[in-house]
Amino acid sequence: MTESTPQEHAHASAGPSERVERLLAAMSVEEKVGQLTQLFYFGGPASVAGADSEIAQQPRMVEGALARGAVGSLLFVTDPAENNRLQQLAIDGSAHRIPVIFGFDVIHGFRTIFPVPIALAASWNPDLITQAQSVAAREARAVGIHWAFAPMVDIARDPRWGRIVEGAGEDPYLGAVVAAAQVRGFQGDHIGAPDHILAGPKHFAGYGAALGGRDYDEVDLSDQEFWNTYLPPFRAAVEAGAANIMSAYMDLNGVPATGNAWLLTDVLRDALGFDGFVVTDANAAKDLETHHFAADPADAAVRAITAGVDMEMAIFEPAFAHLVDAVAAGRVDTARLDEAVRRILTVKEQLGLFDDPFVDVDTAEQVLTDPAHRAVARAAAEGAAVLLRNDNGVLPLHAESVNTVAVIGPLADSARDTIGPWVFAYDGDETVTIADGIRARLQGIAEVTVAQGVPRPTRTFPSMFDMWGDGSPKDPSGFDADSALQHAVDTATQADFAIVVIGEQQDMIGESASRSDLSLPGDQLRLLEAVVATGTPVVVVLMSGRPLDIRWVAEHVPAILQAWYPGTRGGEAVARLLFGDTAPTGKLPFTWPRNVGQVPMHHAVTRSHAPNDQGRRYWDVASTPLYPFGHGLTYTHFEYGTPRVDHSPIPLDGAVTVTVDITNVGDRDGTETAQLYLHQRFGTSSRPLRQLVGFQRVQIAAGATETVTFTIGAEARRYWSAATRDWVTDASQFDVWVGGSADATAHTEFTVER
Ligand code: BGC
Repeated sequence: MTESTPQEHAHASAGPSERVERLLAAMSVEEKVGQLTQLFYFGGPASVAGADSEIAQQPRMVEGALARGAVGSLLFVTDPAENNRLQQLAIDGSAHRIPVIFGFDVIHGFRTIFPVPIALAASWNPDLITQAQSVAAREARAVGIHWAFAPMVDIARDPRWGRIVEGAGEDPYLGAVVAAAQVRGFQGDHIGAPDHILAGPKHFAGYGAALGGRDYDEVDLSDQEFWNTYLPPFRAAVEAGAANIMSAYMDLNGVPATGNAWLLTDVLRDALGFDGFVVTDANAAKDLETHHFAADPADAAVRAITAGVDMEMAIFEPAFAHLVDAVAAGRVDTARLDEAVRRILTVKEQLGLFDDPFVDVDTAEQVLTDPAHRAVARAAAEGAAVLLRNDNGVLPLHAESVNTVAVIGPLADSARDTIGPWVFAYDGDETVTIADGIRARLQGIAEVTVAQGVPRPTRTFPSMFDMWGDGSPKDPSGFDADSALQHAVDTATQADFAIVVIGEQQDMIGESASRSDLSLPGDQLRLLEAVVATGTPVVVVLMSGRPLDIRWVAEHVPAILQAWYPGTRGGEAVARLLFGDTAPTGKLPFTWPRNVGQVPMHHAVTRSHAPNDQGRRYWDVASTPLYPFGHGLTYTHFEYGTPRVDHSPIPLDGAVTVTVDITNVGDRDGTETAQLYLHQRFGTSSRPLRQLVGFQRVQIAAGATETVTFTIGAEARRYWSAATRDWVTDASQFDVWVGGSADATAHTEFTVER
């Protein structure tokens, strides 16, 4: 017997089911439309908002809809008892006692919070990512959630875009590996696997290319960018068996993604072979009217379902309610309606909801507090951190040789910022801040003094998440900026060294959190300058989900650790990294620009006129990045030998094996992520100067050499060409580099003949 692929396995039972067909035959159009409707349940924000506010009324509206059998799915219910109560309402309200499916934004953890997704991607460690998302799935499932609106697999090459924090960065190959790893983590090996939930890769497709990095703004993508850069992570997620796909908010080449039949049917169904169900992003069906695309909500509903949407996610009145009349008027094909309903019922059956719709309230807390989950959170935070700079081996710090360590900065002791955006059901009290982690690590060894230094930077207008009453903390009352700065300077002066924790508050990034600037917000640079001026040795820990303009830091501070928003056990992980209990191994999943004017910037550019000036395309700043894609140091050094290919030339459909020796030339065991870059010298289209086509993590003992082998097959050389408007594989000559970043220098080459 041959083994089934994950996709075959995942959808093995997706054929016609007797129960589903029986239900379909018995259901009224109203009931069918109800199944295609997903509503937010804003119980949390309702308790924060004023009694008369629209949000406070929203739960009652939803309960009314449940009682009428007008809802197929709910989102944002995180309490298991509430979950059961609403499920009972749904079943009692449905003529055929059809349960709802509960969805939620399980983005980087549920109770146990992992580093933000861009940080998980920086681990370049698919097994760790799968492990983290399977813990997240287990916790979410324990409270009755069946479906994650994740992974977010949008390629992002413009760090002004706030949602760069939710994805895997700039690269289609890394993005594809990370996407598949997350789908496996959420779903396990089949839909309905115990302790797992559905994965819903989003936002289909091209959302990350928003004009100017402004969230929701239009996207104009060439076909070659679409197929070669933005689609591969979706393809990988579908191949890994993802049960759901979420449509996107923006216009793609002049047609809204959620009403785009080419995108949702020709590409998603026909080209990618997706056979799960499609949900809109929140209110995106109604938005078809906002886009000045649909005439009114009824037209919006008709055009969304006709384009290929199966379920509408709605905040208040769903547009899909109009489908009942639209079907009666013959504006919607009933076969299309049934197809959508069949997909929803099928997934409910695969999840076992018809037989077991409720969740065990008594075991939930036990799952949520499982210490094994916290251990994965710490490992993930350790694996995600990227050591950007470490001149003269400043790090690791030696705990035994210090008396006093100063931990300084507005983000140093903030639990809310440590866990980052897109979390709702976390436990703030158990979150280990960076100051907490360092205090615990140095307990009984050295004194730790903590100073905020400057006012917390703030946004110019509120975050969309403020309705949960859970923004980043504010300055303590009576906070005096001058004395705080002086206190920080005194604290640094009296310490053996200062760890300065700076970056962006968590509400400065994420959805609807784009920025026109990449500088350190507020007075943080002033604080850093003042601390550096004391002469006390300084290490900077950065908390952000995007590259910031840190040119001054990179010139004046010898050691910089990018910690991201590291999650529940983030502070513990950072302390262990700083004091050398473990070593950083993360690598950047994006190119780190010098300043905002350089963006968008990524490594896979093509060569063109005056290539020797490629680094001087601007006259006011180098056009090279501050740190290349794939960059990340550790506490030892590696040397790459000259790579070898096993044979050349090879035929068009052939593969080469690339072998390289990597030597750990330091005196400490270490882990390197060896990256394989490819360049095609001529062909049907111009091809990127460097294109990531493989990577491997390898542990190498101090002084030892390991041999790493990669295969480059025809698939890695295949691309979509605007010249032929089709996929091509060229006969050509190829350059290959292997190394620790996109600046790799160890080179070889091979030839492909027709
Ligand atoms: C976001 C989605 C998210 C949804 C539900 C939208 O605003 O774009 O990514 O899954 O809300 O919270």
